[in-house]
Amino acid sequence: MSTSSRNVQRINPLESPLQGVVKVPGDKSISHRSVLFSAMAEGTTRIRGVLDSEDVRSSIRAVTELGAQVNLEVQPDGSLAGSVTGWGAQGPKQPEGDIDCGNSGTTARLLMGVLAPWDIEVTLTGDDSLCTRPMRRITAPLMKMGVRFEPAGKEHLPITEIGSRSLKAIDYDAPMASAQLKTAVILAGLGAQGTTTLREPSSSRNHTELMLPEYGADTTAGFCTASVNGPCTLKAADDVLSVPGDPSSAAFPVCGALLVPGSYVQIEDVSLNPARIGFVRTLERMGADISIVRTGSAGKEPIGTISVRYTDELHGCEVPADKIATEIDEIPVLALVAATAKGVTVFRDVSELRVKETDRAQAIIDGLALLGVDAWMEGENLCIEGQPGLKAPEGLVFDSGKDHRLAMTWALAGMALGNPVDIVGFDSVNISYPTFLKTIERLTR
Ligand code: S3P
Repeated sequence: MSTSSRNVQRINPLESPLQGVVKVPGDKSISHRSVLFSAMAEGTTRIRGVLDSEDVRSSIRAVTELGAQVNLEVQPDGSLAGSVTGWGAQGPKQPEGDIDCGNSGTTARLLMGVLAPWDIEVTLTGDDSLCTRPMRRITAPLMKMGVRFEPAGKEHLPITEIGSRSLKAIDYDAPMASAQLKTAVILAGLGAQGTTTLREPSSSRNHTELMLPEYGADTTAGFCTASVNGPCTLKAADDVLSVPGDPSSAAFPVCGALLVPGSYVQIEDVSLNPARIGFVRTLERMGADISIVRTGSAGKEPIGTISVRYTDELHGCEVPADKIATEIDEIPVLALVAATAKGVTVFRDVSELRVKETDRAQAIIDGLALLGVDAWMEGENLCIEGQPGLKAPEGLVFDSGKDHRLAMTWALAGMALGNPVDIVGFDSVNISYPTFLKTIERLTR
């Protein structure tokens, strides 16, 4: 299917449809949280199904440098399983150097909340991409709680955080729907006296609210609001925490099946959390033959199977602004599907797409332009004019900008649109889905 040299990957058209039943690796958001919350807790938590990827390894490295004992081993299925013994009431230790969060926004932003209630001084940094991503959205509410940052009010990493043992609880209206912001404030709220509440303009993913009670925290969650009562020291979870499959990874074989005639794919044991499967709803609205069946739960996360069959004649649709957060990471691959559908697809208010690992709104427009597809911004709305029967021109080279979700999106274009494509920076898939090509290979065997 592919040959690679110097991190340029050639992706050839698939020789057969995608068919079969597969699982995808553990959810990235839940994997980060299982590592971070266990590191904060008193005692030893057992976890399994943890995603083994560069991003999650950034969180593992960070909590290890802060004094947690992480004993996670690679399992035959490629996941990580084992235990994490946290620092509990004693708090994290002063690390010897800066904490490098790599490419992981989740590691950096959640750590700001983790570190808030402790009087240590920690410098957080990351790779070139992470050092251009906005951080004031996190530091602003934490400063209201009593945390200090140096330089104060700086937007980009590296930033030094100086926590405080006497944090104030706050009542905060978040300017954007961001689970990373919500989680940072709630984690800091664990160390504050009283109730910390955060309201958001639309619902972001709620894994933090679902998981923290397993560690004994007193959290409440409502529609677009989350609260925590502090102070509270987390306690190791009693039951083994099991990380379900990642719907954001599942979106790639799912959309692949919608791009390659004759495909029929089922993804098992994937999180069906409504805050994460907006992409399924969007594909339904485009007319896709797609369904979900719940088969159980992993903790408080609903899990089940996504089934999808190639569907001729998809049509464009509108995604309202208040649903964008439920599919924020899937918009690149949804945009590729929209590029093959009849009519225009509009994603309303994608301003948050501009501050991901790259400016994904611009990257989508540029990548689709290479395919000869019209995509444009109207204000903050992303519009794509589909072309049923779309074929990739010969000799295309996509630059992923080292953005994992773009690398996989343009790889699907090479697999499904009739001509090979080259992808620069393909190894960024290791950030979230190291086994992406293996899964596709298995489905075409
Ligand atoms: C994440 C939240 C989302 C998402 C990111 C992971 C999380 O970002 O895009 O990949 O684990 O909390 P926002 O916090 O900007 O919503």
